Amino acid sequence: MNASDLRSGRVKWRSPSNIAIVKYWGKHGEQLPTNPSISLTLSEAATTTSIDYKPGSGLVEFLFEGNRNEEFEDRVTKYINRIAGEHSVLHQLDLKIESSNSFPHSAGIASSASAMSALALCLGSIVHKGAAMDERAFLEEASFNARLGSGSASRSVAGPVMLWGATEHLLNSHDEWAVQVEDVDPVFSTFRDSILIVSKEEKQVKSTAGHALMNGHPYAQQRFDNARNHIGELLSILRNGDLGGFVDLCEQEALDLHAMMMTSVPPYLLIRPGTVAVIEALHDFRAQSGLPVCMTLDAGPNIHMLYPESAEAQVRPWIDSELLRYCADGMCIHDRVGTGAKQLEG
Ligand code: DP6
Repeated sequence: MNASDLRSGRVKWRSPSNIAIVKYWGKHGEQLPTNPSISLTLSEAATTTSIDYKPGSGLVEFLFEGNRNEEFEDRVTKYINRIAGEHSVLHQLDLKIESSNSFPHSAGIASSASAMSALALCLGSIVHKGAAMDERAFLEEASFNARLGSGSASRSVAGPVMLWGATEHLLNSHDEWAVQVEDVDPVFSTFRDSILIVSKEEKQVKSTAGHALMNGHPYAQQRFDNARNHIGELLSILRNGDLGGFVDLCEQEALDLHAMMMTSVPPYLLIRPGTVAVIEALHDFRAQSGLPVCMTLDAGPNIHMLYPESAEAQVRPWIDSELLRYCADGMCIHDRVGTGAKQLEG
């Protein structure tokens, strides 16, 4: 949209969350990752955001699930001012932003990835209104802007598999935005992710503080080397449909991440007794059934149970009968891999 062409309108996007297999943990500069990461895009756990805009002076009103939230409003206003450095038309519009999540706020699911991605996509639709733009370039810019809000959000704009961070293992990979990994065996595009909500409590150490603790961490260099190697290994696992390799690498990464938390200065622990109980039950189940079901964790106690669609008929009853007892209020969100954000209006 040109400054000379200011008008009112409305845009709306739904953006999913994502689950990292190789984790982003540690950053520098302006939201740049110290190591590359790879994630599966989800489909059910999502944020829907709309923006009504009209000519004005850069006022921002933010409603989360129908309620004005001043803390979010402040954060979102700062974020938009940052984006407006490149897109000054945003200073000449008043924005009314309404956002809601598909999952309960209390579920303890990290929502910054879906939220910042949905917001960045809405802003992209506004600033490029009326201009012909290649879809790939649009998504690349949205990923760049989502990253400035939250690193993991850069990977939510598309799917089913996204890589963020420059690596010699993938041509066109970049530290400033995520790219789609194209050469992936179809088994991964219908993968299931059952999210077992072990605890709904707000975590004591937020991700941003956790990333900061990687500066000067005694094992940081080894962790970054491991992650970089895991990127090459995972890309070949994804290409070859190697489910056994996926199981091993996925759990290695999850436990590496939590080992970093437990050995940072000061150390901290996000897993709970229920997390350990579920992991042990999973290892027994895998040994008995021979199914390629595995888990990963993000920066919290909740377990993401990952398995191929073909194992669903056996895994779901096992979760229901053996694992819900470890979940807060028996809560488990059954999700699946998806293809990324969708524009709903505008
Ligand atoms: C453990 O993207 O939430 O989920 O960039 O500070 O917003 P900020 O951090 P965030 O960190 C995510 C960490 C992780 C791993 C991952 O998603 O790669």
